[in-house]
Amino acid sequence: MVGVSREGETGTQEGHTTVVYGTSELVVGPASGTSGEWENGDESRDAALETVDNGAFVAVDGEVVAVGPTDDVVRETPPENADTAIDASGRAVVPGFVDPHTHAVFAGDRSDEFEAKLEGTTYQELLAQGGGILRTVRSTREASLERLVENLLAHLDVMLAHGSTTVEVKSGYGLETGTELRMLEAIDAANERHPVDLVPTYLGAHAVPEGADADDYVESVVDDQLPAVADQGIARFCDVFCEEGAFSVDQSRRVLEAGLEHGLEPKVHAEELSHLGGTQLAANLEAASADHLLYATREDVDALVEAGTVPVLLPGTAFGLGEAYADAETMLEAGAPVAIATDFNPNCHSRSMEFVQTLACVEMGLTPAEALLGATRNAARAIGVTDGTGTLAVGAPADALVLEAPRYAHLAYRFDTTAVETVLKRGQVVVENGTALEGVRSS
Ligand code: NIG
Ligand code: FE
Repeated sequence: MVGVSREGETGTQEGHTTVVYGTSELVVGPASGTSGEWENGDESRDAALETVDNGAFVAVDGEVVAVGPTDDVVRETPPENADTAIDASGRAVVPGFVDPHTHAVFAGDRSDEFEAKLEGTTYQELLAQGGGILRTVRSTREASLERLVENLLAHLDVMLAHGSTTVEVKSGYGLETGTELRMLEAIDAANERHPVDLVPTYLGAHAVPEGADADDYVESVVDDQLPAVADQGIARFCDVFCEEGAFSVDQSRRVLEAGLEHGLEPKVHAEELSHLGGTQLAANLEAASADHLLYATREDVDALVEAGTVPVLLPGTAFGLGEAYADAETMLEAGAPVAIATDFNPNCHSRSMEFVQTLACVEMGLTPAEALLGATRNAARAIGVTDGTGTLAVGAPADALVLEAPRYAHLAYRFDTTAVETVLKRGQVVVENGTALEGVRSS
């Protein structure tokens, strides 16, 4: 139990007041460091989540202003005086999920490649044959801005209904300036229209375009694409696919350093299919995150911890490809703030951060608490969102999930349907009974 943390007076204030009360279990955030002031390496595997039994929180104009035991909170802010009041009896309430790695804007269908992979064709063979990423590039280049926006909005509806309230989205299916800019524009437009908050990443170095030489393509990324992306002003991060058959460590460094010159923070797809050195590169550049890490070594992990780079693990990708999973336990033991993500893309068709939590526990040895932390506070850190998102601490955005379950462990425990019943985005109900409300999108 914790005391009521409170900021200012509520109930009598101007502004929209939201009260969620009577919860069987309220997850506030990590047991330490909910404020956004983190030291890498300070994570402890024993550090539990901070929870409040029979807890409640109050938000004013979308920001949490009080959190604590229901009796104390409702005495100060009676639910009958609130604009939005949710009686969450018998229900756990947790922070909204942050999905810190997706490729959610694209066109086309690759379900036949799933069948080919089942028959033994590898991911890299498909790419070498002009399939995989290159196939999605062809469909995405043909798609209009409107089509890309509609596709993305439809995916965001599903993500929101499964509890994701903040999502990182990458470009990378254009591989030429016009389509890369159009993808980023689609992310920006969807961000305007949908309650899910989007964080845009430029991923021009996702694959070498068909017929192109890798070094020449890297130069066109640096000389043509990056200046245009910087001028457009939408992308926050610059990512690269550092992998055999994609970009070498040197080529990746060239792109990320150029991105930094344009004010884009680095991220790296590292050690996904082999051990190439992308993790050390990420650490060397103090990247925001290094993602995948299936083949990362203990030295790689130590370098990430030292650099303050967040490891983002994508167990859905390993699951879909039938690969071994990343060694999450070594990362946790090294004190890394492990984050998890869907990696939603045409090769990994999962939009559910709940399923990712299940995989993280069953296949990578995380506890449900570690998985939830990886899907919330640590995920927010991986995308540089440090305003308290991923927690329900005082001052955080009131992005919260009311579960149709008494304990947060149901998030990882269930793998049939969603445990998410109600979603609040900045204190407003946007999903009820598992369905996104009409009108939550704007036109
Ligand atoms: O993170 N590995 C590179 N990028 C994606 C896959 C994209 C695709 O296959 O379309 C990933 O897994
Ligand atoms: Fe990816």
